Amino acid sequence: MISPSRCINLLFASILLLTLSAQAQTAKLPNVTILATGGTIAGTGSTSTTTVGYTAATIGVQTLIRAVPELAKVANVTGEQVFQIASENMGNEHWLTLGKRVNVLLAQDNVDGIVITHGTDTLEETAYFLNLVVKSRKPVVLVGAMRPSTALSADGPINLYNAVILAGSPEAVGKGVLVAMGDQIHAARDVSKTNTSTPDAFKTTELGMLGYFQGNRAFFYHQTIRKHTLETEFDIGALTSLPQVDIAYGYANVGPVVVNALVAAGAKGVIHAGVGDGSLAAKVLPALTAARAKGVVIVRASRVGQGILARNGEANDDALDFVAADTLNPQKARILLMLALTKTTSTREIQRMFYTY
Ligand code: SIN
Repeated sequence: MISPSRCINLLFASILLLTLSAQAQTAKLPNVTILATGGTIAGTGSTSTTTVGYTAATIGVQTLIRAVPELAKVANVTGEQVFQIASENMGNEHWLTLGKRVNVLLAQDNVDGIVITHGTDTLEETAYFLNLVVKSRKPVVLVGAMRPSTALSADGPINLYNAVILAGSPEAVGKGVLVAMGDQIHAARDVSKTNTSTPDAFKTTELGMLGYFQGNRAFFYHQTIRKHTLETEFDIGALTSLPQVDIAYGYANVGPVVVNALVAAGAKGVIHAGVGDGSLAAKVLPALTAARAKGVVIVRASRVGQGILARNGEANDDALDFVAADTLNPQKARILLMLALTKTTSTREIQRMFYTY
């Protein structure tokens, strides 16, 4: 016969053992920090069928985390609200703040990976910026949603769940900044938003996505060979602003007005999003050459969306002293040129960077 006091001791011992084993289990999970910036993933509509005309960036990070209790099974998750904006308002100053915060967090031993929740409109731009300035091999994963949190079949919760799995998975280490959308893994450099509203909007059309999510796991099949994160020459530690670089769009009947206005407004670089293989209309070329003569760096990109911009193809870049954007779309070429201009104004060096990153 066991005495009552021995019975109580046994009970306490079992509770202690159970608690310790639960703690050991939690300790084995990766530590993932979610940095929330707003967007549709944090958006709300007036009804469950409101999938357009909703308000982005209304829900805070703790609510986002609470909405997906399954996260606790795959990671020790903590959240930080960095901004609360719709991503069309993302600016260079936001990127510098975010990049510095990511670098501080990833330098900590108690952070294994980072998830950034973001509006989808400029998600690919923030991802590429971070891909060039994060100084760590630890995973950084951007995630958004095409439907607000209140919508039928909202895609935010599953996208967030997948992103946290990816940020905590050893396979994602050293792969550069990643994007988790629609059960797929994409590289920051090559992914684009390709549809205004459907949930499968994010695609890496020709260069190929990196992998899938299935059965609570991330599966990789490809990786980018372009340099990123620790391998880049860019350091934002001491930067408080970025050089002004803007985009001039090419179209039938285009004239010099936009290029001239950008230069007059102080642009240090202009991305020309030309038609086809970056062709320059006869009425625009003089404005671009005049800008170059003033020291403005001109990068020829294409509005087409796929393919290599051929250096010395549709224009004699050697003679004009222009730079070719390689396969970067105009909005990503803008980011690389801004960072390049923090290091050099040599077009030869900048062209090297466009073939490296
Ligand atoms: C935004 O980019 O902030 C709004 C659109 C979206 O997140 O899908």
